Amino acid sequence: MDELTPIWDLPDVPKGVLPPHIDLQKTRVVCNFDAPINTENIQYSGAFASIGVDNSVQLDKFKENFKIEVIRLDESDMEFDMIGVDASLANAFRRILIAEIPTMAIEKVFMANNTSLVQDEVLAHRLCLVPLNADPRLFEYKSENDESSEKNTIVFTLHASCTKGGSRISVKTDELIWLPNGSEFELPTEKSTSDSTVKPKTYTSFTCSQDSILEFANNPIAPTNSNIVLAKLGPGQEIELEAHAVKGVGKTHAKWSPVATAWYRMLPEVVFLKDVEGKKAKELVEKCPAKVFDIEDMGTGIKRAVASRPRSCTLCRECIREGDFDQYVSLRRVKDHFIFTIESTGALPPEVLFTEAVKVLEDKCERLITELS
Ligand code: F3S
Repeated sequence: MDELTPIWDLPDVPKGVLPPHIDLQKTRVVCNFDAPINTENIQYSGAFASIGVDNSVQLDKFKENFKIEVIRLDESDMEFDMIGVDASLANAFRRILIAEIPTMAIEKVFMANNTSLVQDEVLAHRLCLVPLNADPRLFEYKSENDESSEKNTIVFTLHASCTKGGSRISVKTDELIWLPNGSEFELPTEKSTSDSTVKPKTYTSFTCSQDSILEFANNPIAPTNSNIVLAKLGPGQEIELEAHAVKGVGKTHAKWSPVATAWYRMLPEVVFLKDVEGKKAKELVEKCPAKVFDIEDMGTGIKRAVASRPRSCTLCRECIREGDFDQYVSLRRVKDHFIFTIESTGALPPEVLFTEAVKVLEDKCERLITELS
Protein backbone atom coordinates (compact mmCIF):
# COMPACT_ATOMS: atom_id res chain seq x y z
CA MET A 1 0.00 0.00 0.00
CA ASP A 2 1.28 3.46 -0.88
CA GLU A 3 1.60 5.17 2.48
CA LEU A 4 0.24 8.41 1.09
CA THR A 5 -2.91 6.83 -0.37
CA PRO A 6 -5.88 7.19 2.01
CA ILE A 7 -7.66 3.93 2.80
CA TRP A 8 -10.90 5.04 1.16
CA ASP A 9 -9.08 5.72 -2.10
CA LEU A 10 -7.78 2.15 -2.39
CA PRO A 11 -9.38 0.63 -5.48
CA ASP A 12 -10.41 -2.65 -3.77
CA VAL A 13 -12.07 -1.05 -0.72
CA PRO A 14 -15.63 0.03 -1.55
CA LYS A 15 -16.95 3.13 0.17
CA GLY A 16 -18.86 2.48 3.39
CA VAL A 17 -17.05 -0.83 4.01
CA LEU A 18 -14.23 -1.32 6.47
CA PRO A 19 -10.90 -2.40 4.96
CA PRO A 20 -10.11 -6.04 5.92
CA HIS A 21 -7.37 -5.23 8.46
CA ILE A 22 -9.64 -2.77 10.35
CA ASP A 23 -12.60 -5.14 10.09
CA LEU A 24 -10.40 -7.83 11.68
CA GLN A 25 -9.59 -5.48 14.58
CA LYS A 26 -13.27 -4.66 15.02
CA THR A 27 -14.72 -8.16 14.81
CA ARG A 28 -12.03 -10.52 16.10
CA VAL A 29 -9.83 -10.92 19.15
CA VAL A 30 -6.52 -12.20 17.79
CA CYS A 31 -4.72 -14.51 20.18
CA ASN A 32 -1.00 -14.24 19.66
CA PHE A 33 1.36 -16.64 21.42
CA ASP A 34 2.20 -14.05 24.09
CA ALA A 35 -1.12 -12.21 24.59
CA PRO A 36 -4.43 -11.51 22.91
CA ILE A 37 -4.87 -8.26 20.97
CA ASN A 38 -7.91 -6.24 19.78
CA THR A 39 -9.74 -7.18 22.96
CA GLU A 40 -11.70 -3.93 23.23
CA ASN A 41 -15.07 -3.34 21.58
CA ILE A 42 -15.37 -0.32 19.33
CA GLN A 43 -18.67 1.23 20.44
CA TYR A 44 -18.36 4.86 19.44
CA SER A 45 -20.80 5.60 16.64
CA GLY A 46 -18.40 7.95 14.89
CA ALA A 47 -15.35 5.68 15.20
CA PHE A 48 -15.04 5.15 11.44
CA ALA A 49 -16.73 8.32 10.23
CA SER A 50 -13.49 9.49 8.61
CA ILE A 51 -13.60 6.55 6.19
CA GLY A 52 -17.31 6.85 5.57
CA VAL A 53 -18.45 3.92 7.72
CA ASP A 54 -21.37 4.32 10.09
CA ASN A 55 -20.65 2.53 13.39
CA SER A 56 -23.87 3.45 15.16
CA VAL A 57 -26.18 0.78 16.60
CA GLN A 58 -29.17 0.29 14.32
CA LEU A 59 -32.18 -1.72 15.39
CA ASP A 60 -32.86 -3.03 11.88
CA LYS A 61 -29.31 -4.30 11.53
CA PHE A 62 -29.43 -5.81 15.02
CA LYS A 63 -32.66 -7.68 14.22
CA GLU A 64 -31.15 -8.96 10.99
CA ASN A 65 -27.96 -10.23 12.62
CA PHE A 66 -29.26 -11.50 15.94
CA LYS A 67 -29.64 -15.26 16.13
CA ILE A 68 -29.98 -17.95 18.78
CA GLU A 69 -29.03 -21.49 17.80
CA VAL A 70 -29.58 -24.24 20.34
CA ILE A 71 -26.74 -26.75 20.21
CA ARG A 72 -27.59 -29.01 23.14
CA LEU A 73 -30.57 -29.17 25.47
CA ASP A 74 -31.50 -31.60 28.21
CA GLU A 75 -33.29 -31.41 31.56
CA SER A 76 -30.59 -29.42 33.28
CA ASP A 77 -28.07 -28.27 30.66
CA MET A 78 -28.35 -26.08 27.65
CA GLU A 79 -25.72 -24.88 25.20
CA PHE A 80 -26.66 -22.34 22.60
CA ASP A 81 -25.02 -19.83 20.31
CA MET A 82 -25.96 -16.21 20.77
CA ILE A 83 -24.93 -14.42 17.59
CA GLY A 84 -24.89 -10.73 16.80
CA VAL A 85 -24.70 -9.24 20.27
CA ASP A 86 -22.13 -7.21 22.13
CA ALA A 87 -20.24 -8.80 25.03
CA SER A 88 -22.01 -6.43 27.43
CA LEU A 89 -25.40 -7.91 26.51
CA ALA A 90 -24.17 -11.51 26.79
CA ASN A 91 -22.70 -10.61 30.17
CA ALA A 92 -25.97 -8.99 31.28
CA PHE A 93 -27.78 -12.29 30.61
CA ARG A 94 -25.10 -14.21 32.51
CA ARG A 95 -25.37 -11.92 35.53
CA ILE A 96 -29.17 -11.96 35.52
CA LEU A 97 -29.16 -15.76 35.34
CA ILE A 98 -26.86 -16.05 38.32
CA ALA A 99 -28.25 -13.33 40.54
CA GLU A 100 -31.67 -12.06 39.55
CA ILE A 101 -33.97 -14.95 38.71
CA PRO A 102 -35.79 -16.04 41.86
CA THR A 103 -36.02 -19.56 43.25
CA MET A 104 -37.27 -21.10 46.49
CA ALA A 105 -34.63 -22.02 49.09
CA ILE A 106 -34.63 -22.97 52.75
CA GLU A 107 -34.32 -19.84 54.88
CA LYS A 108 -35.19 -21.01 58.42
CA VAL A 109 -34.49 -24.31 60.14
CA PHE A 110 -36.24 -25.20 63.40
CA MET A 111 -34.14 -27.79 65.15
CA ALA A 112 -36.14 -30.00 67.54
CA ASN A 113 -33.37 -32.48 68.10
CA ASN A 114 -29.90 -32.95 66.66
CA THR A 115 -27.58 -35.42 68.32
CA SER A 116 -25.54 -36.02 65.15
CA LEU A 117 -21.94 -34.92 64.83
CA VAL A 118 -22.96 -32.12 62.46
CA GLN A 119 -23.54 -28.89 64.36
CA ASP A 120 -26.94 -27.17 64.03
CA GLU A 121 -25.48 -24.25 62.07
CA VAL A 122 -23.61 -26.49 59.64
CA LEU A 123 -26.66 -28.68 59.10
CA ALA A 124 -28.85 -25.61 58.53
CA HIS A 125 -26.32 -24.27 56.03
CA ARG A 126 -26.25 -27.59 54.17
CA LEU A 127 -30.05 -27.64 54.06
CA CYS A 128 -30.32 -24.11 52.67
CA LEU A 129 -28.12 -25.05 49.71
CA VAL A 130 -30.39 -27.94 48.65
CA PRO A 131 -32.07 -27.05 45.33
CA LEU A 132 -35.86 -27.44 45.40
CA ASN A 133 -38.13 -28.35 42.50
CA ALA A 134 -40.72 -25.68 43.37
CA ASP A 135 -41.55 -23.37 40.47
CA PRO A 136 -40.78 -19.89 41.91
CA ARG A 137 -43.33 -18.28 39.56
CA LEU A 138 -46.10 -19.84 41.65
CA PHE A 139 -44.91 -18.18 44.86
CA GLU A 140 -44.63 -14.69 46.29
CA TYR A 141 -41.81 -12.95 48.14
CA LYS A 142 -42.16 -12.93 51.94
CA SER A 143 -41.05 -9.84 53.79
CA GLU A 144 -40.20 -9.61 57.49
CA ASN A 145 -43.72 -8.61 58.54
CA ASP A 146 -45.64 -10.97 56.28
CA GLU A 147 -47.55 -13.87 57.78
CA SER A 148 -46.50 -17.23 56.42
CA SER A 149 -48.88 -18.58 53.82
CA GLU A 150 -48.95 -21.34 51.29
CA LYS A 151 -48.04 -18.69 48.69
CA ASN A 152 -44.83 -17.57 50.37
CA THR A 153 -43.57 -20.47 52.49
CA ILE A 154 -42.82 -24.12 51.83
CA VAL A 155 -42.39 -26.27 54.91
CA PHE A 156 -40.41 -29.50 55.04
CA THR A 157 -39.99 -31.92 57.89
CA LEU A 158 -37.09 -34.27 58.48
CA HIS A 159 -36.97 -36.94 61.12
CA ALA A 160 -34.23 -39.53 60.93
CA SER A 161 -32.67 -41.74 63.59
CA CYS A 162 -30.17 -44.53 63.78
CA THR A 163 -31.19 -47.38 66.04
CA LYS A 164 -28.97 -48.31 68.95
CA GLY A 165 -26.80 -51.25 68.02
CA GLY A 166 -27.41 -50.65 64.30
CA SER A 167 -24.84 -49.50 61.75
CA ARG A 168 -24.23 -45.88 60.70
CA ILE A 169 -26.71 -44.37 58.26
CA SER A 170 -26.64 -41.47 55.84
CA VAL A 171 -29.38 -38.88 56.03
CA LYS A 172 -30.10 -37.81 52.49
CA THR A 173 -32.35 -35.18 50.91
CA ASP A 174 -35.06 -37.76 50.22
CA GLU A 175 -35.81 -37.54 53.97
CA LEU A 176 -37.07 -33.97 53.51
CA ILE A 177 -40.84 -34.36 53.34
CA TRP A 178 -43.04 -31.48 52.17
CA LEU A 179 -45.81 -30.46 54.57
CA PRO A 180 -48.53 -28.88 52.38
CA ASN A 181 -50.41 -27.68 55.48
CA GLY A 182 -47.39 -25.93 56.93
CA SER A 183 -45.54 -26.35 60.20
CA GLU A 184 -46.42 -29.07 62.67
CA PHE A 185 -44.19 -27.68 65.42
CA GLU A 186 -46.23 -26.02 68.13
CA LEU A 187 -45.23 -22.52 69.17
CA PRO A 188 -43.39 -22.72 72.53
CA THR A 189 -45.38 -19.78 73.97
CA GLU A 190 -48.72 -21.48 73.42
CA LYS A 191 -50.22 -22.90 76.60
CA SER A 192 -51.54 -26.41 76.15
CA THR A 193 -55.29 -26.61 76.45
CA SER A 194 -57.39 -29.49 77.57
CA ASP A 195 -59.92 -28.70 74.81
CA SER A 196 -59.08 -31.23 72.10
CA THR A 197 -61.14 -29.33 69.50
CA VAL A 198 -58.78 -26.31 69.64
CA LYS A 199 -55.93 -26.80 67.20
CA PRO A 200 -52.60 -25.76 68.75
CA LYS A 201 -50.83 -22.85 67.04
CA THR A 202 -47.77 -23.73 64.97
CA TYR A 203 -44.97 -21.70 63.35
CA THR A 204 -47.15 -21.23 60.28
CA SER A 205 -50.89 -20.98 60.34
CA PHE A 206 -52.14 -22.03 56.94
CA THR A 207 -53.68 -25.03 55.31
CA CYS A 208 -53.14 -26.05 51.76
CA SER A 209 -55.86 -24.82 49.38
CA GLN A 210 -57.56 -27.02 46.83
CA ASP A 211 -55.74 -25.11 44.06
CA SER A 212 -52.34 -25.96 45.51
CA ILE A 213 -53.31 -29.58 46.01
CA LEU A 214 -54.21 -29.82 42.33
CA GLU A 215 -51.18 -27.78 41.26
CA PHE A 216 -48.70 -30.07 42.94
CA ALA A 217 -50.63 -33.34 42.73
CA ASN A 218 -48.41 -34.77 40.01
CA ASN A 219 -45.21 -33.15 41.12
CA PRO A 220 -45.04 -32.75 44.90
CA ILE A 221 -42.48 -30.24 46.13
CA ALA A 222 -39.19 -31.91 47.02
CA PRO A 223 -35.44 -31.45 46.60
CA THR A 224 -34.45 -31.73 42.92
CA ASN A 225 -31.94 -34.42 43.85
CA SER A 226 -32.93 -37.01 46.43
CA ASN A 227 -29.42 -38.34 46.88
CA ILE A 228 -27.54 -35.46 48.51
CA VAL A 229 -26.04 -36.50 51.86
CA LEU A 230 -26.96 -34.08 54.64
CA ALA A 231 -25.43 -35.87 57.61
CA LYS A 232 -24.30 -39.25 58.89
CA LEU A 233 -25.88 -40.74 61.98
CA GLY A 234 -24.22 -43.17 64.35
CA PRO A 235 -26.14 -45.65 66.56
CA GLY A 236 -28.51 -43.80 68.90
CA GLN A 237 -28.22 -40.45 67.07
CA GLU A 238 -31.21 -38.56 65.77
CA ILE A 239 -32.17 -35.47 63.77
CA GLU A 240 -35.61 -33.92 63.94
CA LEU A 241 -36.25 -30.58 62.30
CA GLU A 242 -38.47 -28.43 60.19
CA ALA A 243 -37.14 -26.35 57.30
CA HIS A 244 -39.01 -23.36 55.89
CA ALA A 245 -38.26 -22.26 52.33
CA VAL A 246 -39.02 -18.82 50.89
CA LYS A 247 -38.54 -17.02 47.59
CA GLY A 248 -35.36 -15.03 46.96
CA VAL A 249 -32.69 -14.12 44.43
CA GLY A 250 -29.05 -15.07 44.06
CA LYS A 251 -27.77 -11.53 44.72
CA THR A 252 -29.08 -11.86 48.30
CA HIS A 253 -27.55 -15.30 48.81
CA ALA A 254 -26.12 -17.86 46.39
CA LYS A 255 -28.58 -20.49 47.68
CA TRP A 256 -31.29 -18.78 45.60
CA SER A 257 -29.27 -18.86 42.39
CA PRO A 258 -31.15 -21.00 39.84
CA VAL A 259 -27.98 -22.04 38.04
CA ALA A 260 -25.04 -24.15 39.09
CA THR A 261 -23.33 -21.82 36.71
CA ALA A 262 -23.98 -19.86 33.54
CA TRP A 263 -21.07 -18.88 31.33
CA TYR A 264 -20.10 -18.00 27.81
CA ARG A 265 -17.06 -17.97 25.61
CA MET A 266 -16.49 -16.34 22.27
CA LEU A 267 -16.56 -18.62 19.25
CA PRO A 268 -13.00 -19.77 18.47
CA GLU A 269 -11.76 -19.44 14.92
CA VAL A 270 -8.63 -21.22 13.67
CA VAL A 271 -7.36 -19.70 10.42
CA PHE A 272 -4.48 -20.97 8.31
CA LEU A 273 -2.28 -18.11 7.07
CA LYS A 274 -0.23 -20.57 4.99
CA ASP A 275 -0.71 -24.24 4.14
CA VAL A 276 0.76 -26.63 6.68
CA GLU A 277 1.83 -29.82 4.94
CA GLY A 278 3.81 -33.02 5.39
CA LYS A 279 5.84 -33.46 8.57
CA LYS A 280 4.85 -30.04 9.85
CA ALA A 281 1.14 -30.93 9.54
CA LYS A 282 1.68 -34.07 11.65
CA GLU A 283 3.56 -32.01 14.24
CA LEU A 284 0.69 -29.51 14.38
CA VAL A 285 -1.93 -32.23 14.89
CA GLU A 286 0.10 -33.67 17.77
CA LYS A 287 0.51 -30.30 19.48
CA CYS A 288 -3.23 -29.72 19.98
CA PRO A 289 -4.64 -31.38 23.13
CA ALA A 290 -8.24 -30.61 22.05
CA LYS A 291 -7.86 -32.48 18.73
CA VAL A 292 -8.84 -29.47 16.64
CA PHE A 293 -6.71 -30.46 13.63
CA ASP A 294 -6.87 -33.36 11.21
CA ILE A 295 -4.76 -34.27 8.22
CA GLU A 296 -6.42 -34.37 4.85
CA ASP A 297 -5.03 -36.13 1.82
CA MET A 298 -5.20 -33.58 -0.99
CA GLY A 299 -5.20 -36.34 -3.60
CA THR A 300 -1.79 -35.48 -5.06
CA GLY A 301 0.08 -37.22 -2.27
CA ILE A 302 0.15 -33.97 -0.28
CA LYS A 303 -1.06 -34.25 3.30
CA ARG A 304 -2.35 -30.95 4.61
CA ALA A 305 -3.48 -29.92 8.10
CA VAL A 306 -7.06 -28.69 8.38
CA ALA A 307 -8.99 -27.32 11.37
CA SER A 308 -11.89 -29.80 11.53
CA ARG A 309 -13.13 -28.96 15.02
CA PRO A 310 -12.39 -25.25 15.65
CA ARG A 311 -15.24 -25.06 18.22
CA SER A 312 -13.24 -27.38 20.48
CA CYS A 313 -10.29 -24.95 20.61
CA THR A 314 -9.64 -23.93 24.21
CA LEU A 315 -7.16 -21.26 23.19
CA CYS A 316 -4.36 -22.91 25.13
CA ARG A 317 -2.04 -21.62 22.37
CA GLU A 318 0.07 -24.80 22.45
CA CYS A 319 -0.08 -24.94 18.64
CA ILE A 320 1.66 -21.57 18.18
CA ARG A 321 3.83 -21.50 21.30
CA GLU A 322 6.98 -22.95 19.73
CA GLY A 323 8.73 -22.78 16.38
CA ASP A 324 7.32 -20.63 13.62
CA PHE A 325 3.77 -22.01 13.78
CA ASP A 326 2.38 -18.55 14.48
CA GLN A 327 3.33 -17.68 10.90
CA TYR A 328 1.03 -20.48 9.73
CA VAL A 329 -1.88 -20.50 12.16
CA SER A 330 -3.89 -17.57 13.49
CA LEU A 331 -6.11 -18.12 16.55
CA ARG A 332 -9.06 -15.78 16.79
CA ARG A 333 -12.28 -15.24 18.68
CA VAL A 334 -15.40 -13.84 17.05
CA LYS A 335 -16.40 -10.84 19.15
CA ASP A 336 -20.15 -11.03 18.57
CA HIS A 337 -20.66 -14.79 18.68
CA PHE A 338 -21.04 -16.33 22.13
CA ILE A 339 -21.24 -19.99 23.05
CA PHE A 340 -23.52 -19.78 26.07
CA THR A 341 -23.98 -22.58 28.59
CA ILE A 342 -26.63 -22.73 31.30
CA GLU A 343 -26.54 -25.41 33.98
CA SER A 344 -29.78 -25.34 35.95
CA THR A 345 -29.93 -26.51 39.55
CA GLY A 346 -33.32 -28.04 38.70
CA ALA A 347 -35.92 -25.52 39.89
CA LEU A 348 -36.65 -24.51 36.30
CA PRO A 349 -35.49 -26.02 32.99
CA PRO A 350 -32.57 -24.12 31.44
CA GLU A 351 -34.56 -22.84 28.45
CA VAL A 352 -37.16 -21.38 30.83
CA LEU A 353 -34.37 -19.74 32.83
CA PHE A 354 -33.15 -17.99 29.72
CA THR A 355 -36.61 -16.69 28.82
CA GLU A 356 -36.98 -15.49 32.42
CA ALA A 357 -33.64 -13.68 32.06
CA VAL A 358 -34.92 -11.98 28.91
CA LYS A 359 -38.01 -10.81 30.85
CA VAL A 360 -35.85 -9.41 33.67
CA LEU A 361 -33.74 -7.47 31.17
CA GLU A 362 -36.88 -6.23 29.44
CA ASP A 363 -38.24 -4.97 32.79
CA LYS A 364 -34.97 -3.15 33.45
CA CYS A 365 -35.09 -1.47 30.05
CA GLU A 366 -38.69 -0.41 30.62
CA ARG A 367 -37.77 1.03 34.03
CA LEU A 368 -34.92 2.98 32.48
CA ILE A 369 -37.14 4.35 29.71
CA THR A 370 -39.80 5.37 32.26
CA GLU A 371 -37.23 7.14 34.41
CA LEU A 372 -35.74 8.96 31.43
CA SER A 373 -39.09 10.16 30.12
FE1 F3S B 1 -5.61 -26.62 19.93
FE2 F3S B 1 -4.90 -25.07 21.86
FE3 F3S B 1 -4.32 -24.49 19.36
S1 F3S B 1 -6.76 -26.18 21.72
S2 F3S B 1 -5.99 -25.30 18.23
S3 F3S B 1 -3.58 -26.16 20.56
S4 F3S B 1 -4.96 -23.11 20.91
